[in-house]
Amino acid sequence: MKLQPEVLAAIRDHAVTDGCRLTLTGPRFDDRLYQRVNDVLEAVGGRWDKHAGVHIFPADAAAAIAPVLATGHVVTLREKRQQAQFFPTPPPVVERLLDLADLAPGMTVLEPSAGSGAIATAIAARDAVVDCVEQDPGYAAHLADLAVARTLTVADFLTVPPRPEYDRVVMNPPFTRGADMAHVEHALRFLKPDGRLVSVMSWAVAEPSRATARFRALVGARGGTVEATPRRAFAASGTDMDTVLVTIPATPPADAAPIEWPVREQPAVDELAYRDPAEILDEIRADLHAALAEFDALAELLAKPAAVTRRPTSRRSPRRAKSNCCSTASTKPRDRTPAPTHT
Ligand SMILES: C[S@@+](CC[C@H](N)C(=O)[O-])C[C@H]1O[C@@H](n2cnc3c(N)ncnc32)[C@H](O)[C@@H]1O
Repeated sequence: MKLQPEVLAAIRDHAVTDGCRLTLTGPRFDDRLYQRVNDVLEAVGGRWDKHAGVHIFPADAAAAIAPVLATGHVVTLREKRQQAQFFPTPPPVVERLLDLADLAPGMTVLEPSAGSGAIATAIAARDAVVDCVEQDPGYAAHLADLAVARTLTVADFLTVPPRPEYDRVVMNPPFTRGADMAHVEHALRFLKPDGRLVSVMSWAVAEPSRATARFRALVGARGGTVEATPRRAFAASGTDMDTVLVTIPATPPADAAPIEWPVREQPAVDELAYRDPAEILDEIRADLHAALAEFDALAELLAKPAAVTRRPTSRRSPRRAKSNCCSTASTKPRDRTPAPTHT
């Protein structure tokens, strides 16, 4: 969302930061302006603390507002969801993750990409102790409001130095360009020798490829197991992406069976996705030709001033309105014949 100039100016000129605290100085804003400033501060993790009279951030307030001041834009939580970059784990999948983790009360657990706390909340509900890492200050603030985490670190998890001190890691990391594999490999370094990691991962890791070979070998060597989530398991979170649940022990069990990777029983995407690319290209060309033809017709119309001269409004005289209607190229039925294609 692009900030209105007065909102940007209010933050730039009146926000004073001190560690996690941000104070709005100067004369009181009118209610509407304050509301819009508050929305921006909340989107980057700020929460109004009535008693202290400041906004409190989960990490450094200056760092949280710096991108807003630099770009004049803020991505609201709603926009993030709309851009489909955030898929909270639905409750049935969370329960399955915790069962696979064999979570017991009192265990220490790391949730290294905790989002707004779908997994962390369930871990705490099973009386385990959960430490969270989340890169996005907006989600982190939401998580802080829930007060379920023992600690909450607002950081890029891949830069957090490993400490092998957790009984369990339970996670649903980002998937983009194999990020899930990088996150899981890093998270394994946080397990005690008898620990166990369970992660939601992209279906891509179940497919043998150059990109997944090293990771698949690691899971096999550790005595890991993999199961497919039910189809459309993440539909409630706004994605049809197929996923697997991967369980990896810190130390390979002596009796580990060879790993069996799940296979798709039916194609995960409809057959349109497998159409001949040449056919799709032809269709795109035909559409472009049709669009160009419409532009040409419009340009021709605009080049004839007489044809577009406006006459008095049509409301009072339907008959005149009809006769005045400038209906040349724009109302002609369009030629829908696909244009010839060239290769
Ligand atoms: C698929 S969401 C899952 C959120 C949460 N784990 C859940 O299951 O509901 C992935 C989360 O990872 C966060 N994330 C992405 N990159 C990260 C990174 N490098 N370090 C920490 N968190 C990250 C995103 O902001 C998002 O909240």
